[in-house]
Amino acid sequence: MTGRMADRMAEISPFYVMTLLQRAKELEKQGRDIIHMEIGEPDFPTPAAIVKAGMDFIQKGDVKYTPASGLPLLREKVAEFYQQQYGVKVAKERIFITPGASGAFLLALGATLNPNEELLMSDPCYPCNSNFVRLFNGKTRFVPVNADNDYQLTAQAIRDSWQSNTKGVICASPSNPTGTIIKAEVLKQSIEAVNELNGCFFSDEIYHGLIYDEKATSALEFSDDVFVINSFSKNFGMTGWRIGWLIVPEEFIEATNKLAQNIFIATSTHSQYAALAAFEAEAQQELENRRQELSKRRDFLYQKLQDLGFEMGCKPQGAFYIYANCAKFSDDSFQFAHDLLEKEGVAITPGKDFGTNDACHHLRFAYTTSINKMAEAMTRLETFLEDYK
Ligand SMILES: Cc1ncc(COP(=O)(O)O)c(C=O)c1O
Repeated sequence: MTGRMADRMAEISPFYVMTLLQRAKELEKQGRDIIHMEIGEPDFPTPAAIVKAGMDFIQKGDVKYTPASGLPLLREKVAEFYQQQYGVKVAKERIFITPGASGAFLLALGATLNPNEELLMSDPCYPCNSNFVRLFNGKTRFVPVNADNDYQLTAQAIRDSWQSNTKGVICASPSNPTGTIIKAEVLKQSIEAVNELNGCFFSDEIYHGLIYDEKATSALEFSDDVFVINSFSKNFGMTGWRIGWLIVPEEFIEATNKLAQNIFIATSTHSQYAALAAFEAEAQQELENRRQELSKRRDFLYQKLQDLGFEMGCKPQGAFYIYANCAKFSDDSFQFAHDLLEKEGVAITPGKDFGTNDACHHLRFAYTTSINKMAEAMTRLETFLEDYK
C-alpha cells in the first residue's frame, strides 16, 4: 500500500518567502518596524466605486450562483474591454469569469493537459503555474531566460526546447518576478511557432494594465487560437475578491464550461457584481492615477538600486517588481534576504522562489509600498551593505 499523501505533493514547492514573512511577523510582534517589499499586492485599497457596487449587491440579499461561465453582463463588459483596449473582437461565449487568474489556469490546464505532457515556461517565472501543471500530472520544462531577451521566451527558444510530449507554452508579460514585457514581434512569432507545432499558447496577461512606458499587446491581437488569462486582482486592485477571467479558443468553450461547473460551480457572485464597476469611468480614473504612482515608484526604486550597485540588465516595463542581481554582494540571495530582514527590517523575496536559473544571485523587490517607505528601506539597505560580506 502506498502512503496516504499523493506522490505529487513532494514536487509541489512552497513559497520560500513565507518563512521570511513568518519571521517578519515575529519581529513586528517584538516591536520592530518592518518595511514590506516582498508582497505582490500594492498598498492601495480596492477602488471605492467597486466596493460600493459589491456592497449594494450584497445588501439586496440575493446572493445566488451565477452561470458557471459568469455573469452575462460581465462577460459582455470584458468583451467590450478587448475591443476598446486592443481593437480585437472576442465573442463573449469564449470568456469565462473565474476565481482569479489562478482559477483561470486551473480551467485552461485541466481542459488541455494529459498526464506526462509538458509545458514550456521561462526560468525565472511565477511559480504557482508550474505547480498547477504538476497537479494535472503534467511536467514543466523550464527554459532559462536572461536580460538579453527581456527575460522572455522567444520563438527560437520554443522550437529548440520542444519535445515530442510538449503540449504548449506559458508566457507571462509583464513577467513576475522581472516586470519585463515581451516585444510584440516576439509574441507574434512565439504564437506562430506554437501554432505550427500544434500546441497550446497560454498568455498570462494579469499585469497588463500596469505597464508604464508603452502599450500592452495581447496575444489575441495575433491569433484567436490562444488561451488568455487575466484577472481583476492586480490592475483592478481586487486581490482578495478572487475574480479573474479566461478566454479560450472556440473549440474549448464546451469543455471549459463543463470544468467550471464541476470545479467552482461559479465565481463569487458579489465579486462579479463589484467587477462590473471596474470598467466604469470613476474606477478607471482611480486606476489610472495608481498606474502613474506605480510608474514613479518604479523609477525611484530602479535608480536607487542601481546607485547601490545592484544590476538589473534591462529596465522593467510593468507589474510592480524589480528583479535585481546581487552577485556583487552575495552568492546566496536567500541568506541575503534573511540577513537584511534580521538586521535592518526590510523584507524582500529571494530568487529561488522563481526558479533555479542564477536564482542565488537574484532578489525581487516589490514597489508595492510608498516612495517614503521605500526611501527608508533604501537607507537601511545602504547601511546593511556597508559591512555585508
Ligand atoms: C504572473 C501571475 N499570474 C497569476 C497570478 C495569480 O493571480 P490571481 O490573484 O488573479 O489568482 C499571479 C499572482 O501573483 C501572478 O503574479
